[in-house]
Amino acid sequence: ALERTLSIIKPDAVAKNVIGEIYTRFEKAGLKVVASKMKHLSKQEAEGFYAVHRERPFFSALVEFMISGPVMIQALEGEGAVLKNRELMGATNPKDAAPGTIRADFADSIDANAVHGSDSLENAAIEIAYFFPATDVYAR
Ligand code: CMP
Repeated sequence: ALERTLSIIKPDAVAKNVIGEIYTRFEKAGLKVVASKMKHLSKQEAEGFYAVHRERPFFSALVEFMISGPVMIQALEGEGAVLKNRELMGATNPKDAAPGTIRADFADSIDANAVHGSDSLENAAIEIAYFFPATDVYAR
């Protein structure tokens, strides 16, 4: 089915100047960018976005990393977009990521792991709405 998912290019990948290379992977896989913005998240915005992880031991390191520099945030649309994006990203820990995935090619560690992607269709809707009002998402 036609789906939308939220993607974030994290501060490490923005700093490496690979936004375009990552967008090319989305496009070559048939995912369309339907909303996009660069943003330096506040601590409050990062904590709110990752609220489901609040009790995890890595929460504060995750938030500090996510506010260490600007991120590129996009909504992606396509057939099976949630799973397709997760396949493009590879495993959360780049040590476990399959060759040719975004994290295998651009990530340095489980914290600096280049990209975030929604893990379910339900969370995708919540995460897209967190960053983009409906009027800023362009069906195409
Ligand atoms: P992300 O997909 O953005 O969702 C939460 C992030 O927490 C994850 O990617 C990792 O960058 C980070 N993280 C750090 N340690 C862990 C861990 N042990 N398990 C899962 N995520 C972790």
